[in-house]
Order: sequence, then structure tokens, then C-alpha cells
Amino acid sequence: MRTHKCGELNTQQLDQTVTICGWVHRRRDHGGVIFIDLRDRAGLVQVVFDPDLAEQFAIAEHVRSEYVLQISGVVRHRPEGTINKNMHSGEIEILAKSIVVLNESETPPFPIESDIEVNEELRLRYRYLDLRKTAMQEKMKVRRDVTCVLRNYLDDNDFFEIETPYLTKATPEGARDYIVPSRTHENSFFALPQSPQLYKQMLMIAGFDRYYQVVRCFRDEDLRADRQPEFTQLDIETSFMTEEQIMNVMEEMIRQLFAKVINVQLDAVFPRMTYAESMSRFGVDRPDLRIPLELVDIGEFMKDVEFKVFSAPANDPKGRIAALRVPNGGELLSRKDIDELTKFVSIYGAKGLAYIKVNDLNAGIDGLQSPIVKFAPAEVWANVLAKTGAQNGDLIFFGADKTTVVNEAMGALRVKLGHDLNLIQGDWKPVWVVDFPMFDWDEKAGRFNAIHHPFTAPSCSVEDLKANPATALSRAYDLVLNGTEVGGGSIRINRPAMQQTVFEILGIGEDEAREKFGFLLDALKYGAPPHGGLAFGLDRLVMLMTGSHSIRDVIAFPKTQSAACPLVSAPAVVTDEQLKELGIRLIKPAAKEKV
Ligand code: AMO
Ligand code: AMP
Repeated sequence: MRTHKCGELNTQQLDQTVTICGWVHRRRDHGGVIFIDLRDRAGLVQVVFDPDLAEQFAIAEHVRSEYVLQISGVVRHRPEGTINKNMHSGEIEILAKSIVVLNESETPPFPIESDIEVNEELRLRYRYLDLRKTAMQEKMKVRRDVTCVLRNYLDDNDFFEIETPYLTKATPEGARDYIVPSRTHENSFFALPQSPQLYKQMLMIAGFDRYYQVVRCFRDEDLRADRQPEFTQLDIETSFMTEEQIMNVMEEMIRQLFAKVINVQLDAVFPRMTYAESMSRFGVDRPDLRIPLELVDIGEFMKDVEFKVFSAPANDPKGRIAALRVPNGGELLSRKDIDELTKFVSIYGAKGLAYIKVNDLNAGIDGLQSPIVKFAPAEVWANVLAKTGAQNGDLIFFGADKTTVVNEAMGALRVKLGHDLNLIQGDWKPVWVVDFPMFDWDEKAGRFNAIHHPFTAPSCSVEDLKANPATALSRAYDLVLNGTEVGGGSIRINRPAMQQTVFEILGIGEDEAREKFGFLLDALKYGAPPHGGLAFGLDRLVMLMTGSHSIRDVIAFPKTQSAACPLVSAPAVVTDEQLKELGIRLIKPAAKEKV
């Protein structure tokens, strides 16, 4: 139907007769001449209709935005003064000789190309129109380039792509499962995989050595800008490789990815940081290293002060007092800003946000402006100022509470100040976070949770793990980029005794372990090689690479924040017959008219 794509035409086709197909992007009437910008996947081209060709002109007069046209015409130079250097086809236009309306279009619910903010629900409901936007087409192109480069790299490095089932059994990755009722097995359900974790381990036991898969994962969890209920992983597993080797092969892949797709040279070696250091300096395990602010512990100076807000956590092994120095903050932040930041940290459970404005370091306590200096002697503040490296004009914030609250609140405050005060340094700061603890203690449930997943190997023996589960470290690693966790993995347990021990520490008894993971415990008995791997969040990588604010912008058909698809109206009720066939009775029958 066409000889060229609209957006690929330029002076190379001068004087040629071409046929193009596409959508009417814009139509303008200019004193007897009609201009149509026609759009297809490759971009836009300007078409001119002369009134001399009366029949064609009459058709062109009636077309509207988003009509689909087939146009033939001659490529010619645009007149002097109308050249658009920003467009690939900006030096030429097509003088139309014929026009066919391939299809009409109703007026779209929102303009395809404009800066007007369109409600996201509406965008998703008409996603096929939203995806016509140049910006969205470009994001999808980056996504396609990303998977292409990743696949090529892995193929070149002897990785084998293998598919694993979607109808399966629960794989614990910390979220709720999406379950699917089985018709053929009464009262039984499949679970959609939270990840292919156990299948890929069994592929290593099967001897495949190096596996990868671009794979959908399903997790019923609270949604955020970087979380979707179904998302895509680049999932990887290897045998006979140490964590060092795995990290090296993977960071080379990420370097090539950025160089080839967005022409960015990442560090020749990604830095490594322990979990403990990351929590201490940044309050999170996914530090944004572009922000030059850091948390500093000052609990050691506060054990004997009369200010209970500080002395209590200073004497509590589970407490923390962290200072965050903002250079020149005294000038950058007003009283009102501080009040707003105090409100901000309260979202994370902080009960307040103490601060000191450093007016004059030489004036001792009189040079400090703060509601809290009166609560502790001058030498305490001198120690705090020295440890934080305070300078005149700085503002120092303090968080004092349980360590978890301080880390969350002050970690989030650090990121917010970094953005609000334009402190971001550099474009891309990847970092591997290593030496995660094996477990964290769930206060409410009164038991340990696995920090990565229960198949992650500890860096100690079975005996040491049993003796000190709370302090045991794992052989897990996360790749963090600009404050986003883009990937994570570990060396796995490959012996049944260690796996059993981890299940026990997690409160999974022998019977439950057999019922849920018997197949894994069996498989580990048949010569399971040392193995390990990781998974990248593909959507998150593409989000960062395209500068998008949400992974919804880089997924063709994403779900809303409430895990629904407005385009097809899913989830939906099903018919009584389907339920009957599945042996399911609903607790609250859905409204009939919705069926
Ligand atoms: P993990 O749970 O850390 O590890 O997931 C790996 C990566 O997947 C991305 N990710 C998500 N992206 C979008 N929406 C979500 N809901 C979501 N959840 C996770 C993140 C994350 O780093 N089986 C292990 C990997 C392994 O050990 O090999 C796993 O799934 O970028
Ligand atoms: P108060 O004595 O409660 O008025 O608190 C004095 C100062 O300490 C105020 O600036 C509070 O915002 C701050 N503050 C109170 N609780 C905390 C806390 N847990 N961590 C940090 N600062 C706090």
C-alpha cells in the first residue's frame, strides 16, 4: 500500500513520486492551500494540497484529525523560510496527486499530541490512542531496543533462553499470590509465579548452566510508581560461578545496554557497598549516590542528656539518632520549609524533626539557633558539630527513634532535600549493595522473614546460622541505580540440610516445607550444582533509561494504581456457569448487571 514511511522521507527522495499511509496529525487551511501532517511509526511528513486538483482538494477539505489516509505525491523542497530543522522530513514536503481515505475517525477523547495533562485513567482507557503519541512510541522503541541488546549479550555469552510455566505453585517473593482455580482438579488452585525462582534453580540442577528469560511475574502487593501487579523481569541463573563473577558479567551487560541504547558510558567498575554501610550512611538499602547528603550517627554523645527524645534511643540497642547536615541550609530553608519537612517525615512515623541552624561556629552555643540546644551541654553540641563537619550557614536535622523509623524518615528526607534543593550530582550512579542480612525480625508476627528469599545461601555454616540467625549475612546482591533497585539476586542454597535449616528458622515446619517445597528438597538431593543468579526489573530499567516517572509509562498496557485495566475493564465478574464448573461459590454475589 505504500512505498515509504512518512517520517523517513527527506531530500533523498526529491522529485520522486511516493505513496505513504498514516494518520492525520494536523490539518491546516492556508488561503486556498491545505496542509496535512501525516504521521506513522517513523514520524511526520507535510503534505500540500493544491486547489488545482479539485477532486483531491475536496477530499482533503473534509478529513479530520486521526483519519487514516493513503496519499501519493511528489517530494519537493519546502519553500525558503518554512524549513523545519528539528524534523527528519523538515526540508521537504509532498505535493499530493491522490488521496484515499482508508478510514475515518471520531474526535479522539484527548489530543494525540499536546502538552495538556490528560487524566491517567482516560489515557489508559484509550491506551491505543495514548500509544500513538510520539513520546510513547519512543519509550516503546527504547523498551524494544533494551530487550534486543540484552538478549544479544546473553546469547553471545552462552546463556540459554528457556520458558517456565505461568500456571504453577506459589513462589514466595514477599507478596500475595494471584491464584487461578483449576477446573480439572476440584478445590485446587494454581498460583501465578511471583518469579520463576524455583524453576530456574531446577534448570541448573538439570545442567543448563546459564539460563535467561524475559518473563512476566505476578505479585499482588501495594502498588507504587515503580511497582505493577504484573511486570517483566530479565531473569538469569548460572552454575559454577561465584557472586564476583556473576556481578562482573552482569555489570558488563548493563554497561553495554546503556552505551548501545542511550549512548551513556557508565562507570568502568560499579562500586560495591555493604548493606550495613548503606543503611548507616543513607538510611536505605537502595542509596541514590547522586545526592551528596549523608546521615551521621550521634547517639554516642546523647546517652546522658536530659532531653528524653534523644537519650531514650541513645540507650536503646534498637534506637538510632541520626544527623543530616544540609550545607548552607540556613539560607536555603525557611521556618515554613522546616515545618513542611517535619510534616513530611511524620509520614514515615517520625515524631518530630529537630534541627540546628549553625550561625557562628566560633560563638559556641550562642552561635546555634535551635529549639533543642538548651537540652544538652555545650560540649555535646561541639561533638555533634565536629562529627557532622558543620560549617557556618549549615542546617542540621536530627531524627531520633527506633532505628527503622529513623532510617525510613531520614532516608526519605535526604532524597527529598536532594531533589528540592537541586543537589543532584552526576547523571548515573550505579552501586552493588552486598552482604545483606539473611533475615529480619518481624515484630508483629514474632518471627524471622527472609530478606531476599528463602533459597538464598548464607555466608556461614548450618551450625553458625542456627546459632546466630539474627546476625547471619547472606550471599545476596542488589544492583541499585540512582536510588532504584533495578536488580537483585544471590548464590542459592544447594544442599537439602541448609535449605531445611532456613525453613526452620523462618518457622516453616517439616510438614509444611514438604507440602510447599518438597519438590525442591527432593531436587537438591540429586547433585544440585553450586548455582546463583539474579533478576532485573526490565520495566524499571526502561523507566530510568527513558527518564519516565512511572513504570506505567513504559508498559504498553499497564494496570492502574488499584490493579485494574480500564481498557478492557479487567478484572470482571464471570458467569454463574463458569463458577459452577469451577466449583466456586462467591461469598457476596456480584451485581447481575455487571456480568
Ligand atoms: P526480586 O523480588 O528482588 O527478586 O525482583 C527482581 C527485580 O524485579 C523488579 N521488581 C518489580 N518491578 C515492577 N513491579 C514489581 N511489583 C516488582 N517487584 C520486583 C525489581 C527487582 O530488583 N527471584 C528473585 C531474583 C533472584 O534471586 O534471582 C526475585 O524475583 O527491579
Ligand atoms: P518538643 O520538646 O517535643 O517540642 O521537641 C523539640 C524539638 O524536637 C522539635 O523541633 C521537634 O520537632 C523535635 N523532635 C521531637 N521528637 C523528635 C524525634 N523523635 N526525632 C527528632 N526530633 C524530634
